[in-house]
Amino acid sequence: MTSPLILGIETSCDETGIGIVRGTELLADTLASSVEEQARFGGVVPEVASRAHVEAMIPTIKKSVTAAGISLNQIDAIAVTSGPGLAGALVVGVAAAKALAVALNKPIYGVNHLASHIAVDTLENGKLPEPTLALLVSGGHSSLLKVNNITYQIESLGKTLDDAAGEAFDKVARVLGLPFPGGPWIDKAAKDGDALRIDFPKGLMSKEDLVDHTFDFSFSGLKTAVARWVQAWEKTGEKIPVNNVAASFQEAVVEVLVKKTLLAAKQTGINTVVIGGGVAANSRLRSMAVSEAEKVGVTIRIPRPGLCTDNGAMVAALGSHLFSAGIEPSQINFEVDPIFPITQVKAP
Ligand code: KG4
Ligand code: ZN
Repeated sequence: MTSPLILGIETSCDETGIGIVRGTELLADTLASSVEEQARFGGVVPEVASRAHVEAMIPTIKKSVTAAGISLNQIDAIAVTSGPGLAGALVVGVAAAKALAVALNKPIYGVNHLASHIAVDTLENGKLPEPTLALLVSGGHSSLLKVNNITYQIESLGKTLDDAAGEAFDKVARVLGLPFPGGPWIDKAAKDGDALRIDFPKGLMSKEDLVDHTFDFSFSGLKTAVARWVQAWEKTGEKIPVNNVAASFQEAVVEVLVKKTLLAAKQTGINTVVIGGGVAANSRLRSMAVSEAEKVGVTIRIPRPGLCTDNGAMVAALGSHLFSAGIEPSQINFEVDPIFPITQVKAP
């Protein structure tokens, strides 16, 4: 059997992503983003995102199809993010995907955005061993997962009790006067900072917490500690040492993520870890994860930064695995689910 040709549509937040894959070969990954419009508001405004998706959808599909060198009727199946995400934004992608599926008479898969962040890794690094551990760190989620099979069986080992890792990056960036989304700006500022200068708290790493919340995360205490530190510094009238604050904050987040991930590897005996989601683009997370894992014989797999942040290729990648595994497509009347649980890979 030849590898299936799958078109993926992603509209869970502020990126309109269209990806086309043949099996696990990436043919096109096309993106339109409303981030510049959002930046004015310092965060994602759902209505602005939905409207931008409507405007970008058809031109982005056309661009992607041209880039892949295919015609739409060659496609074997369509995959679309059905959740989690912003309801109004998801609806635009799902409506477009359903229209295409009906017009082309092709099967459609409503897929989990979070599972897609993991599946995208297979486009670069090949088949996932079963089971694989996954650290999923994005703007809305932070979870440690045991991926038994990417098409139907994902278990949650732990998750954030409050802010997501990316959310903490975005909020701290705002405190430091850096633009939205803050993650890439903190990453950049931290390169010129001293990560050991300020000792910020590391959430859920105490002895008791490591028993009660072994694989859970908490970033809101850290975020508050940074805000207090900055407020106190402002009283001195001196310029805020943005680079040092960024580096010290980033170090606190990354250290917790890496330590808990490697603890999960040790406790489960699983020695391959995929890191995915927007925060996986962070240069310090990438370097610390790889160097610490190497010391304990764990293999770290991370897609290139452009495939870590939201994109259509990740949705196409998951759709391709579902189609190839012979998993039944979603019913055409499936609905978006803004709180789609990670344990469910596709819409019924
Ligand atoms: O996966 P994603 O694109 O969207 C969601 O599903 O949420 O993740 C977006 C998040 C934002 O919070 C953004 O600040 C963060 O990923 N991010 C980063 C970096 N690039 C994006 N955080 C830290 N360092 C980066 N280089
Ligand atoms: Zn995402």
